[in-house]
This record gives sequence, C-alpha cells and structure tokens, in this order.
Amino acid sequence: MLKFPQGFLWGAATSSHQVEGDNVYNDWWKFEQEGKIKYSSGAACRHYQLYPDDFDLAKSLNHNCHRFSIEWSRIQPQENEFSQKEINHYKEVISALRQRGLEPVVTLHHFTNPAWFTQSGGWENRKSAKQFLAYAEKIVEALAADVRYWVTINEPLIYTHFSYLIGDWPPQKKSLLAAYRVRNNLARAHILAYRLIRKIYLKKNLPLPLISIASHTQAITTCRPNLINKLSCFARDQLYNFAFVDKLFRAGTLDYIGINYYSRNLVDVKEWGIDKFFFQACGDNCDPRERNSLGWEIYPEGLYDLLTKFKKYNLPILITENGICTEDDHQRWRYIQGHLESVVKALGRGVKVIGYIYWSLLDNFEWDKGFRPRFGLIEVDYQTFERKVRPSALKLAQVCRTSILE
Ligand code: FCB
Repeated sequence: MLKFPQGFLWGAATSSHQVEGDNVYNDWWKFEQEGKIKYSSGAACRHYQLYPDDFDLAKSLNHNCHRFSIEWSRIQPQENEFSQKEINHYKEVISALRQRGLEPVVTLHHFTNPAWFTQSGGWENRKSAKQFLAYAEKIVEALAADVRYWVTINEPLIYTHFSYLIGDWPPQKKSLLAAYRVRNNLARAHILAYRLIRKIYLKKNLPLPLISIASHTQAITTCRPNLINKLSCFARDQLYNFAFVDKLFRAGTLDYIGINYYSRNLVDVKEWGIDKFFFQACGDNCDPRERNSLGWEIYPEGLYDLLTKFKKYNLPILITENGICTEDDHQRWRYIQGHLESVVKALGRGVKVIGYIYWSLLDNFEWDKGFRPRFGLIEVDYQTFERKVRPSALKLAQVCRTSILE
C-alpha cells in the first residue's frame, strides 16, 4: 500500500487546440487548411461548448485540479484586436472549475500562435516576447483573482524542435539558427511574463501565485555503456532536461517545476556526426520494453530518476503531464500505476512532488498525428461527441479519493 500526502493535486490536462475545436485564427488551423499538416483539428472534442460536462466528469473522477490552456488566437485574433468575449469565455471556464472544486492550472502558451503572429516572424523575432507579453497581461489582469498556478509556456524545447529544427509543425522551418533564436526568445518570454504576472498580483494585493513552465523531460540511458554513449547521454541530459530550466532558475523565475514525462531515450551512437551524437537512438531493441500506440517506450522508473535529479533545485515539482496513448485500457492503468509508484518512491526520498496531472482528460487531436492516438481517461466519439469514462479513469479516481495506491 502506497500513500500520497494530504493536499496532493490530482487532475488531468488538455490544451486549447487539441480539444476546443474551430480555432480558426491560429497558425495550426491555417497550416491544416492549406494542407501542410496531414490532419485537421476541425471541431476537435467540441470542448469549447462542452466544457461544463467535461468538468462534471473530472469532478466525478475525484480530481481536485485541472490543467488547460488559453488559446492566444481567440484572445487576440488580429494584432490590434483583443476579444472581450473570449476573455469572458475563459473567465467562465475558470469559474466552472472552481464551482466543482477543481483548482485551475492555467497554461498561456501550448504550441499554437495567432496566425498574424507567425506571419510577422513568430518566435524568431526579437519582439516576440513583447508581443506575447501584451496578451499575457490581458489574461492575467482578467483572471488573476481566481488563478494560483500558472504555466507560461508548454514544452519550449519540443516546440522549438518540431517547429524550427525538424520542421514538422508550423511554421515548418529547418534551421539551427532559427531554432537557437526561438529557444532564446521563449526563455525571455517566460522570464518577462514571470515578472509581469507577479507585478499584477502585487498591484491587485493578491497573494503571489506559483509560476513555472511545463518542461518536457526524458529518461536518457545508454544502450551499450561505451564511452561515446556515456558522453552523449550526459550531453543530452543537460541539453534536453536541464539547460533551459537552469536558465530560468538562475533568473529566479520558477516557483515550482512543471514536468511532462512520457518515455525514454535509449542512446546508441553508432556513426559520426553531431546529429547522431544528439539524436541517434538504439534501433536494435536491445532492452525491449512495452510501447504506446505511437511506439514510445514505456519506462516508469525513468520518472523516479528524473524526480530525484530535479530535487537539486529545492522547488516543489508538479507533474504537469504523464500519460499513454493506447487501444488497450489495461495497459493505460498499468502505465499510470507504474508511474505513480515512481512518484511515491521519490516522495519517500524527500522530493517535494505536489501533484500528478494525467495527459489527457479526453481523447484529442494529437497534432501532426491526428485523432488516432487515444490518450484520454475519457473516450471521445468524434462522430457524436459522446464521452465514455474508461475503466482506468475509475481506478485512478479511487487513488485520487483515498490517496492510496493499492
Ligand atoms: C506533449 C504535449 C501535449 C500532447 C502530449 C502527448 O508533448 O504537451 O500537447 O501532445 O505530448
């Protein structure tokens, strides 16, 4: 029997473009319409309309928090236009959460940008941070009184990687220099947003909130423990897991650490080349593990290793995403169970984990992979938009209610 502490946050996450539907003013929508992305988000889960029902379900699953993102392009559809109607919508979303006893964890940026922003140079532009700040200010001014947990930017490095380095996601660039600029501008945007958010809370005489990013993490281990693999492992760990967080930490702009964790990177550098050193993975199935339906390896012990490494910052840690896409709901429960065991083990080692947020509350639009991957605690029928709670969700609900993992 494993026990979680009192006041632990239990919930699930979504992001605007993946669930809301009809985000017609963002860059993803534009690329989808132009056929540059294979799949279209369309009505997604109709969560924009159905959120009260979805929150009823989250409450029925004994969640006490919920992570979601504000869609920047709804708030600022054109550079010189802010929509009060959409600001009010998100106010209603937050009050719907509060009415159900769900603590909102609010993300300001989750991969999508207004199309005008991307057209004007997007995150490559030095002025991007300032542009983001104008939007952030509107939102924080409007929502501050009801929000204690902010995530400024979701997975800045994943965004940089897919949008600017390998070019799968809008704006589909492949440039090391662009990626370098984007990474720096995202860091700057977080740092400035952190200061701005605190200033607004102080001005309003509100207790200070907790602000962080949701950082993508990966367990990184060697396949064959030779020197090159060990060096690569060390370098990748620094580059992917720590460098960005270090920078924000040194700037004094993290109140907690948001961690997204899914999988492992099994390092095997077999050829020369800087790309091989940083990206080549074992292709020989040397240490076979279960995989999710997208082929990502399942490696729960990696979460424990990472949590103990993140202890060095001496900050609370919130697991802002952890989840699996699978057609087999038994496998989903095994995945959750295994990762929760790692969390309890880390808590036992004095790591201050304050909550666990499963990705995702609902099946949803998985970016360039479309609707096929099923990550949800709740199944969505994309024809009828009917929701069906999965058995794994009920098992997790039991843990949320009792704080005990049997
Ligand atoms: C994370 C993203 C999230 C979702 C999951 C599966 O990297 O933050 O939007 O796509 O992966």
